[in-house]
Amino acid sequence: MNQFDYLIVGAGFTGSVLAERLASQLDKKVLLVEKRDHIGGNAHDFYNEAGILVHKYGPHIFHTNSKKVWNYLSQFTNWRPYYHKSLATVEGIEVPIPFNLNALYQCFPPLYAGKLETLLIDEFGYGRKIPILKMKERSSGELSFLANYIYEHVFLGYTTKQWGLTPEEIDDSVTARVPIHISRDNRYFQDIYQAIPLEGYTEMFKKMIDNENIEVVLSTNYKDIVNDISFDRMIYTGPIDAYFDYLHGELPYRSLQFEYRHFEQEFHQSAGIVTYPNEFDFTRITEFKHLTGQKSRSTTIAYEFPKAHIQGKSLPYYPIPHPENRELFRKYKSESKQLGKNVLFAGRLADYLYYDMDQAVARALSLFEKDLCSSTQMIT
Ligand code: FDA
Repeated sequence: MNQFDYLIVGAGFTGSVLAERLASQLDKKVLLVEKRDHIGGNAHDFYNEAGILVHKYGPHIFHTNSKKVWNYLSQFTNWRPYYHKSLATVEGIEVPIPFNLNALYQCFPPLYAGKLETLLIDEFGYGRKIPILKMKERSSGELSFLANYIYEHVFLGYTTKQWGLTPEEIDDSVTARVPIHISRDNRYFQDIYQAIPLEGYTEMFKKMIDNENIEVVLSTNYKDIVNDISFDRMIYTGPIDAYFDYLHGELPYRSLQFEYRHFEQEFHQSAGIVTYPNEFDFTRITEFKHLTGQKSRSTTIAYEFPKAHIQGKSLPYYPIPHPENRELFRKYKSESKQLGKNVLFAGRLADYLYYDMDQAVARALSLFEKDLCSSTQMIT
């Protein structure tokens, strides 16, 4: 029987960072088991038949303010600086998203836009980011007109398609992820570090887990092999409800379906992501070459269709933040606590939380330092 110090379930950011740290810093033998046929989790990318580098599970743009996370990942990749700019169609015009002062001037005549700009800056301050529901709540007079305009043209249709719920029905944190930006800055993120791994995410993951202490097994549900191997501790980054065989019921997720098109032209659209809040059944179109910087005479785009997640039939993409779901999660969390330190749960599926990639890496690094390092000597 094979003997390992750690069994790590899931080769996404959380599992791979922990495998790398345990193997390289503590000289631990790790078995990294992944259900899918590739590493990288939801950040996995691959070259399609036309030779275009595609993000398999939707566009992944790296951004962080954490020097620690940036320095850590930079050991495994060089970067292509990339400042993401996203557009959304409002009454047939493509405006910057998050909606900002430039969008204001595209949607309204200059004199009126100038008046609204002054009101916005006086009320909220230049540079501030205001969630739409807060803006609606705090505005009166013409600002209230503006808040309702943005709500109806940018948020209502998009949120209803994406979540199957209106902005009021879903947790405020969801619409707050894309606030109104009282600024002329068209960048989607303002983080200090913004980039895409130069050779792609999968190459970065390959380097991260390229260690003789790490054995990788793909296309395998850990449940099918767990009784055939011997290990001291498990780190589980899969869905927490699946670990407990859905004992308390399923945690709900929103899922996505992608449809790809390939064109024999250099570019199809003017930005990496164009969002369609009101038209069509899909929410947005991603054109990968804008993100990756790949040079090619042809291009691939992906249409993104949101849908309800059905266990066993689709993939769980977004946890649905709602008091009832949090309550259900707490039941699983207390089950997990009863397992003590034998099984550690971490990652977006085990924590039932949306994490950006940098947050997933930060969470894994912190778990390593606080829970895994304390009792063991680091390699010097
Ligand atoms: P992840 O899901 O990546 O890994 C968990 C792994 O466990 C999976 O590969 C799964 O197959 C495996 N697994 C589960 N059960 C198993 C079992 N029983 N046996 C074996 N393996 C099992 N972030 C960002 O910073 N910028 C961005 O632009 C985006 N874009 C984006 C788009 C979309 C559509 C989504 C849904 C998410 C993003 N993200 C993002 C977030 C990003 O995807 C997220 O931070 C990471 O995937 C989190 O990594 P984890 O390792 O926690 O989960």
